[in-house]
Amino acid sequence: MALPQQHQALVFASADGSLQLQGVDTPTPGETEAIVKVETTAMNPADWWFHDNRASIKEWPYIVGFAASGTVVAVGTNVRNVKLGDRVLAQGGFTKQSNTFQQYIRSFADQLAKIPASMSFDEAATIATPAPSAVLPLYHPGPTVVSAGLTAPWRPGGRGKYAGQAAVVLAGASSVGQMALQFLKLSGFSPIIATASPHNTPLTLSYGATHVLPRTLSDTPAELAAEVARVAGSTPIAVVYDGASTAATQTAGLALLAAGGTLVLVHDAEVRAEAEAKGVKVVVGSGVMAFPKNRTFAAEFTRALEGMLEEGTIKPLVPEVVPGGLGAIPEGLAFGKAGKVSGKKLVFHPFET
Ligand SMILES: NC(=O)c1ccc[n+]([C@@H]2O[C@H](COP(=O)([O-])OP(=O)(O)OC[C@H]3O[C@@H](n4cnc5c(N)ncnc54)[C@H](OP(=O)(O)O)[C@@H]3O)[C@@H](O)[C@H]2O)c1
Repeated sequence: MALPQQHQALVFASADGSLQLQGVDTPTPGETEAIVKVETTAMNPADWWFHDNRASIKEWPYIVGFAASGTVVAVGTNVRNVKLGDRVLAQGGFTKQSNTFQQYIRSFADQLAKIPASMSFDEAATIATPAPSAVLPLYHPGPTVVSAGLTAPWRPGGRGKYAGQAAVVLAGASSVGQMALQFLKLSGFSPIIATASPHNTPLTLSYGATHVLPRTLSDTPAELAAEVARVAGSTPIAVVYDGASTAATQTAGLALLAAGGTLVLVHDAEVRAEAEAKGVKVVVGSGVMAFPKNRTFAAEFTRALEGMLEEGTIKPLVPEVVPGGLGAIPEGLAFGKAGKVSGKKLVFHPFET
C-alpha cells in the first residue's frame, strides 16, 4: 500500500493553544522500524497529564496518545518480526511520529506485538500501555532499571514461581491494576488481594484477584492491613503493586509490607524514607518501552506477549468506543481526568475523523 503524503492528527500546535486536527507528514520507516495504520487508539492518563503540563513538551507541534492497534503498512529493510498486513498493537514511544492520536505511526518494529485473529483492534489497543506499565517494574531484569526483580512468567522457571507468596494490587480495577493482576497470577502469587470500587469487584476477580476489598480502606491503613492479614494469614505479602500511587495509597501499601517486601509505584515515591527505614524496596515504574533503558527487555516482553495473547492467558481490558474519531478525544480527556471512566478504556477510531 502506498503511504499518503499526509494524514490527520490531533495536534498541540503551541504551548498555549488547544488541541487541533491538522494534516501532518506521514513518516517513512527507518531500517528497524515499521509504519502502522492506526485503526484504534486508546486513552491513558498520560494523555491528560501532557494536556495539563504542556511546559514538559519539548518539540512543537506535538502529538500525544500512547496506545494503538492497527495494520502494518510499511517496514524498514531490516525488519523480520512483522510484515505488511500484520495486525498489531503498539505503544506510543513519546515522539511526535510514534504517538498514537493520528492515523499513521512509526514504531520500533520489535515493539509491535502481533494480535490473535480473534482479538478486535479495540480490544488490542487497551493493552498497549497498561501491560508494559505492569510488566516493566515487576520483571525488568536490570541493570538499567530498578524493578521488583521477579522472574518473568515467560522465562524458564518463571510461571508459577511465586506460589506460596501473597501479592496486593491497590487500584485493582485500574488499567494498570488489571494487567498487574493477570501477570502476578501467572507468576503464581496467591492470594492476590486487590482494592476497587465495589461495582468493579466482579471485573477485578475476573482479571486474577482472589479477594477484592473496598478501595476506601486505603484511607485507613490499619484497617486495610487487618483485612489483608485476615485473608493472607501467615502468607507473607511479597509485593504490593500500587496502581494509584496517591499519598494515601502509598502509605497504605507500605503498611502491608515487612522488611524484604517490595512496593511498586506508578508515580514518584512519597514514602521512600519510611520504606528504606523499614527495609522495604521501592520501585517507581516506567512503562515506556521505547526508553533506551527498557528497549531490550521490552522487545523480549513483546515476543512473549504475542504468545500469551494467543493462548489467552493475558486478556485485553474492556474497550468502550467513543464515536467521532480524533475529534472526540478532547472530550474524552476531560471525562477521564474527571475520574468518570471506571473499569473500561475509552478508545477512538482515527479514520472516523
Ligand atoms: N509510571 C508509568 O509509566 C505509568 C504508566 C501508566 C500509568 N501510570 C499511572 O497509573 C495510574 C493508573 O493509570 P491507569 O491507566 O490504570 O488509569 P485508569 O484505568 O484510568 O484507572 C482509573 C481507576 O483507578 C482506580 N483508582 C484510582 N484511585 C484509586 C484508589 N485510591 N484506590 C483504589 N482504586 C483507585 C479507580 O477504580 P475504581 O473505579 O474501581 O474506583 C479508577 O477507575 C495513573 O495515575 C497513571 O498516570 C503510570
